[in-house]
Amino acid sequence: MLVSDLAIPANADERAAALVDFGTYLNPQKVRVMRTAGLDLVEGERSGAWVWDVDGRRFLDCFTSAGSFNVGRRHPKVVAAAKEALDHLDHGNFLLCSAQKARLAERLAELSPGNLMCTTFGTGGGEAVDFALKLARGATGRPRVVSTVNGYHGHTGFALSAGGRDAFREPFEPLIPEFVFVPFGDADALRDAVDERTAAVILEPIQGEGGIVVPPDGYLTAAREACDGVGAKLIFDEIQTGMGRTGRWFASQHEGVVPDVMTVAKSLGGSLAAISATIYTEEMREFLIPHPFIHLSTFGGSDLACAIALATLEVIEEEGLVENAAAMGDRLLAGLAELAARHPDMIGETRGRGLMTGVKYREDSHGPRMSYQLSQRGVLAIYSGNEPSVMRLMPSLIVGPDEIDLLLTALDESINAVRAGDGPADEESTRVRRRPQRAAQEG
Ligand SMILES: Cc1ncc(COP(=O)(O)O)c(C=O)c1O
Repeated sequence: MLVSDLAIPANADERAAALVDFGTYLNPQKVRVMRTAGLDLVEGERSGAWVWDVDGRRFLDCFTSAGSFNVGRRHPKVVAAAKEALDHLDHGNFLLCSAQKARLAERLAELSPGNLMCTTFGTGGGEAVDFALKLARGATGRPRVVSTVNGYHGHTGFALSAGGRDAFREPFEPLIPEFVFVPFGDADALRDAVDERTAAVILEPIQGEGGIVVPPDGYLTAAREACDGVGAKLIFDEIQTGMGRTGRWFASQHEGVVPDVMTVAKSLGGSLAAISATIYTEEMREFLIPHPFIHLSTFGGSDLACAIALATLEVIEEEGLVENAAAMGDRLLAGLAELAARHPDMIGETRGRGLMTGVKYREDSHGPRMSYQLSQRGVLAIYSGNEPSVMRLMPSLIVGPDEIDLLLTALDESINAVRAGDGPADEESTRVRRRPQRAAQEG
């Protein structure tokens, strides 16, 4: 294991140790990649919209684990609910009925659009998508799934098979058969791909990892109609867009389109619990009545996680975070448009809805360079997984005008710095150091 090129600044003991251990026992290349973007920081304290690294540097968190911290990090009410739950609960026995699961499923039914009423819980987004696709195949008895180019649904079996980026799929092929891909936002291509053999169309209402791509008006309606025309099921993956992120509880509500199945995860766990939900209609549930144990998850919807998720939903409602996402999103998008007008050589486009926003730079290389410059100005922001020229700006929904303005100022200054050619310190100027006991082991 070569970790000697993980150049560690000499004054950063805790961080240095964590990075060397991470490189040794997880993956050194991950450390190198994060370093080139100035993001080889190690998280320490975290609170609300902010995170501190172990060296005490403070960052406005505009990545939020791809939209996982909508209520902020360690929200006091969610922490209190978690502590209270720990005094009485544990994961619970997954085979038994549970008051916490029942209460959370009821709440999700109340919040979800249209006739989405029934829930199966999981631990993460990939698991929720896996189950959504299994349910669609099971309920229709059909094989085909239509997904979108650059769509992102996770790295588990069915979810990866639905992933629209070849680099993630190719090393593991053959994946699950009968998945086809159409360009996102192209209603004609979608209609052409959907036929009597189609079990489901799966879409993110706004592509997240694909680079914050908002589809044209009418696209979700066209997807609904294409499915209805042949009896296929429509699945909306709201794992990144849901829980108020776009200024509505769920992004599909902007267009008033109700899917047959919706997946949520990430922010449902309030930054403290691993929980996801696949939410579907009673009609879809018919398939599960004769097969109640056909899909199981030991920790999916654990009693602890459900208690935390219920508190999280309460915070979103009580604090008006959906409305705040809409208002702060408007402020951010207006500021981004103004920046784009002043820096046309650097910014190609700005886009988004609510606090799910993106800046498309003129060149892919601007993504990591801007991440680096922003990190120097106390902003944590990361370019999109499937589209490095687009920087995602997805702060917690608790931010106010001051945080939005701070972000806009940091972007402005960072653009100027990138244009001036400023960049990370030369590798030569950082000292290589290893922890003594690791060095001995490596020798
Ligand atoms: C839209 C979407 N679906 C699914 C996933 C996968 O979720 P997880 O990483 O919890 O498996 C993600 C994660 O970023 C996502 O953004």
